[in-house]
Amino acid sequence: MDALVKDLNFIDNRTPEEAAAACETQVTKETNTGKTRKLYIESYGCAMNFSDSEIVSSILFKEGFDTTSEIEQADLVLLNTCSIREKAEQTVRNRLGQINYFKRKKPGLIVGVLGCMAERLKKSLLEEEKIVDLVVGPDAYRDLPNLLNEVDGGQKAVNVLLSREETYANINPIRLNSNGVSAFISIMRGCDNMCSFCVVPFTRGRERSRDAHSILQEAQELVKQGYKEVTLLGQNVDSYKWASEDGTETVNFAQLLERVALVNPYLRVRFSTSHPKDITDEVLYTIKKYDNICKYIHLPAQSGNSRVLELMNRTYDRAWYLNRVDAIRAILGEDCGISSDMISGFCTETEEEHQDTLSLMDYVQFDYSYMFFYSERPGTLAARKLEDDIPLETKKRRLEEVINKQRELSLLRNKRDVGKVHKVLVENFSKKSKDFLSGRNDQNKVVIFPKMHYKKGDYVNVLVNDCSVGTLFGEAC
Ligand code: SAH
Ligand code: SF4
Ligand code: F3S
Repeated sequence: MDALVKDLNFIDNRTPEEAAAACETQVTKETNTGKTRKLYIESYGCAMNFSDSEIVSSILFKEGFDTTSEIEQADLVLLNTCSIREKAEQTVRNRLGQINYFKRKKPGLIVGVLGCMAERLKKSLLEEEKIVDLVVGPDAYRDLPNLLNEVDGGQKAVNVLLSREETYANINPIRLNSNGVSAFISIMRGCDNMCSFCVVPFTRGRERSRDAHSILQEAQELVKQGYKEVTLLGQNVDSYKWASEDGTETVNFAQLLERVALVNPYLRVRFSTSHPKDITDEVLYTIKKYDNICKYIHLPAQSGNSRVLELMNRTYDRAWYLNRVDAIRAILGEDCGISSDMISGFCTETEEEHQDTLSLMDYVQFDYSYMFFYSERPGTLAARKLEDDIPLETKKRRLEEVINKQRELSLLRNKRDVGKVHKVLVENFSKKSKDFLSGRNDQNKVVIFPKMHYKKGDYVNVLVNDCSVGTLFGEAC
């Protein structure tokens, strides 16, 4: 767990992908179909990893592995890892230490590291963490059966080759830990942006878009299985671009969004993440046109200061960001939810520049944000070119100020929702009581209300009568 994020963030209204962004683990549900071996898989990092774990489980299911939620039952333990901040990697190393305990009790246990840490550290992970038998990067999961054969034969196995084509388009994910209401659909992989602080382009490789038809097929399949919401996933969804092999058909993100919205009017469509440099008015008008596309945009600003944004290589400045926010408000209205990611204490950030971040937040009035202090990552542009010169205490103090500002704004935005009716898709019981249900409104906010006769998967009109920083409360009407 990224301790600072956990300690300082108010995170009670997070969606699964946002919980994932805060580096939480997720343990699988059981498949229990009587297969000979059992897989236990934990995911760290972003929603892409959560989605990839579902692909991995599907590949291994065909290889004779059922999934288990009990590590003691497992023959194979996989950690799907994240490298985004140093803390994320430390969490995984600590976890490997704990897993060592199980391996001592069960010497045949195979331990594998997947995902971004596998890609970043490659073979050296085998030397650094003796307990690891298997290291597999994000584009090599189809090779898992061969790699496991090698491990079964007493070898250690590594495949960290990145691909320009792999999208796992034809693999039917096994939905792990899903509430049966909402599911992720991965629409692209990799990232071609080179934000100077970010390790993702190195761990995930070049950007590539998945065949639009396979995306639509997956959405249709989910509807058949009773799902009510899909989230289209990519590091930068606005640059989605797919062309058929003969070049007669091209699909951009706005067009894909429209096609997914048309799959079924009762299927809610969400997407993440939008990049401020790429989000177009065409996308905004498509969101406006369809009731089932949620009026909510995760638009990470990272900083409110143009000089810092340039050093971050975000390729937009403060004015550009604010222009995009103005376009969202003009086209989709004041009620459209907007959230952000923020980094405090990036290289050379001055006190005034930090104040610019706070004033940008005031201008936009984000509904919520995911906030971090800068953590230098080896090999990135910033690590090579810039000095990580802001003292840790200063980074933490600035981060705390950003978090306090966000708390203030979240409360302000939530208070605007009181007295209004919200369409809520029910996801589960409330954490505190089975007499209450929990769901989300269009803007992605958690709404809690008395259960009455409603159930998971229902759309319910809820009159909101109270709120906290992270949650809306109301009654069905
Ligand atoms: N593709 C998404 C971000 C994915 S990473 C985008 O462009 O917005 C999620 C968030 O982690 C980033 O938005 C950023 O705020 C944070 N992050 C990435 N690298 C970081 C680093 N080195 N230190 C601190 N936070 C970082
Ligand atoms: Fe990282 Fe930037 Fe790509 Fe997001 S857009 S994944 S922050 S390089
Ligand atoms: Fe982490 Fe990799 Fe996602 S670094 S945030 S798991 S793309």
